[in-house]
Amino acid sequence: MDWIKQIPKAELHLHIEGTLEPELMFAIAQRNHVKIPYSSVEEVRNAYRFSCLQDFLDIYYAGAGVLLYEEDFYDLTMAYFQHCAEENIVHTEIMFDPQTHTQRGISFETVIMGIQKAREEAQEKWGISSLLIMSFLRHLTQEEAFQTLTESLPYKQYITAVGLDSSEKGNPPSKFKEVYQAAIKEGYIPVAHAGEEGPADYIEEALEDLQIVRIDHGNNCLTNPSLVQKLVMQKMALTVCPFSNLELKVVEDLKQHPAKKMLDLGLKVTINSDDPAYFGGYLTQNYIQLADALQLSKEEVATMVKNSFQYSLLSPEKKENYIQRVEDFLEQHQ
Ligand code: ADE
Ligand code: ZN
Repeated sequence: MDWIKQIPKAELHLHIEGTLEPELMFAIAQRNHVKIPYSSVEEVRNAYRFSCLQDFLDIYYAGAGVLLYEEDFYDLTMAYFQHCAEENIVHTEIMFDPQTHTQRGISFETVIMGIQKAREEAQEKWGISSLLIMSFLRHLTQEEAFQTLTESLPYKQYITAVGLDSSEKGNPPSKFKEVYQAAIKEGYIPVAHAGEEGPADYIEEALEDLQIVRIDHGNNCLTNPSLVQKLVMQKMALTVCPFSNLELKVVEDLKQHPAKKMLDLGLKVTINSDDPAYFGGYLTQNYIQLADALQLSKEEVATMVKNSFQYSLLSPEKKENYIQRVEDFLEQHQ
């Protein structure tokens, strides 16, 4: 399965705050004189046992509390790009949660400029392209999302899309209809988490009310056959996250993961790591262990790799270019 590591691939669902490895958390906490409730890296890793999304989110937001300065966001993002370089992730669409930081008194500028510096360096050093998805926290109000949208405008040149994440149940997409309309007016592309823990109705709402062009997770579409049919017809891609689904108990076992069923139904599946520091592995491991658990063929894996470029937010020319690189790789590695 080494070819999965080597094949050029894109990642479309990745929270930069979810790449904070315990080692880096400790190093940053120390230099910033921030107290964390763990005494060792092992203790941190042991705390990473979740029974649902909210369990994880509580720990994830607490972990992000060590990030104070531009340099911290730069170091965090560079560490992720280092993984990309090692795994031949040649394009990545990075989500960031400004409100996780602005609510603690960190400026929007500090967050985005640290990330931006790393993006430029990764492009220069490794030729990795990336874009940013600014995600609104759905447990907060729409008014707070509007405030974040306003704060983002001076940095619009760095941001491609808006997303919606955090606690899904009880926070339907319709809650954010107006702020998405405003974001779209500003030129941001709309995507959203939907149908991870929430019902299929939330996916329909996200399509209708938020006008999304891609669904983050989307697992629960499978409970509604007419919705599946619609997604297939519209070629509406899903950013599926196997390790995340396993760790957050969306699935009980990778062997029961619905990715193969989704592919068989004609859905446009992409594979992603979501929050790799918390869920036990980066993108390549997600592919390898999923392929192993579901006995996926090389063609099925290759389809998902090509989907990762096809359903990216890149221009048609760039997509074509990358897909050609994938085809060339496959030809040379028959
Ligand atoms: N924030 C980070 N990871 C998330 C996930 N899997 N679902 C919702 N919000 C998140
Ligand atoms: Zn996510």
